[in-house]
Amino acid sequence: MGTPRVFSGIQPTADSFHLGNYLGAVKQWVDLQETGDALYCVVDLHAITMPYDPATLRRRTRVAAAQLIATGLDPERCILFVQSQVPEHAELAWVLSCLTGFGEASRMTQFKDKSAKGGAETASVGLFTYPMLMAADILLYRTDEVPVGEDQRQHLELSRNLAQRFNHRFGETFTVPAPYILPAVAKITDLQDPTSKMSKSSSAPQGIIDLLDEPAAIRKKINRAVTDTESVVRVDDEAKPGVTNLLRIYAALCGEKADDIAARYGDGGYGGFKKDLGDLVVDTFSPIRERTARYLSDDAALDAVLNEGARRARKIATETMARVRERSGFPPAV
Ligand code: AMP
Ligand code: TRP
Repeated sequence: MGTPRVFSGIQPTADSFHLGNYLGAVKQWVDLQETGDALYCVVDLHAITMPYDPATLRRRTRVAAAQLIATGLDPERCILFVQSQVPEHAELAWVLSCLTGFGEASRMTQFKDKSAKGGAETASVGLFTYPMLMAADILLYRTDEVPVGEDQRQHLELSRNLAQRFNHRFGETFTVPAPYILPAVAKITDLQDPTSKMSKSSSAPQGIIDLLDEPAAIRKKINRAVTDTESVVRVDDEAKPGVTNLLRIYAALCGEKADDIAARYGDGGYGGFKKDLGDLVVDTFSPIRERTARYLSDDAALDAVLNEGARRARKIATETMARVRERSGFPPAV
């Protein structure tokens, strides 16, 4: 096999990505653009599955793209684009929706969680069909690997099933994608509630570190992170979820093993450990914050990058859709 095709997406639903997005997903995206044939997408169609404001969405889509470039995605080495600029995503999502069982879609835990929050009656049908749109994103590009956090595993399993189902019924068309999930960073937890996922929709501001946070805010949040009543720094998911989460963050940012870092601090308390971790996060995020501001200050340049990305993505997407149309019994697009 040649170079693996890599695809992933992120929603423009906040004014900044957070540490969980960065460590669980985007950092791998940057690495994989070197070894894979990579496409990365700001999934604005997914962002309208919950109530939203168009002007805010427009701004957040640009902020998302600028942060991705600032983090290290290089439009020369990967295809970076905005989902709604490639209409084939919505087109394939319809075909896949018709292959998905109602019961099968009803079992998606993200739908159950998100619809339960606002009351199931008020959830949109788009929130329900969200996983089929995600499958369309992936399958359009004949993707081999999908770098994501643990919370996306079930959606990926559905994408694999839909690829196999289509291939089985209508003939070999799609590549069956594999998840690319790194266990050490797959679930970064909330600093105030270290047994729950760090999440833009459910974490309190003190529990979540934003990529675009100011240094003082980052240090304060880490200093106040919930730990335990001992004073020893060590990995122990059961007894010390807070310290363990901080160790995982530390390890992922500096490339050392969590146990080795823990051994260095020993039982000297958490003050020095937290201070050093604060410095590490600030040193990583500050240049990204500064570059994001720079990319956002030149609208024309950012538009040019995204338009070119969409043009290149669409070329692949229309080839796949032509095959899907033929296999599905539709006349060719004109
Ligand atoms: P979202 O913000 O839901 O679009 O998520 C973007 C990416 O970040 C997805 O690949 C998620 O799996 C990943 N992600 C989100 N929160 C976390 C977290 N707390 N830990 C690890 N990965 C995460
Ligand atoms: N559902 C993903 C999330 O919330 C975002 C996403 C949409 C995605 N389409 C994708 C991720 C395709 C990977 C591949 O994080």
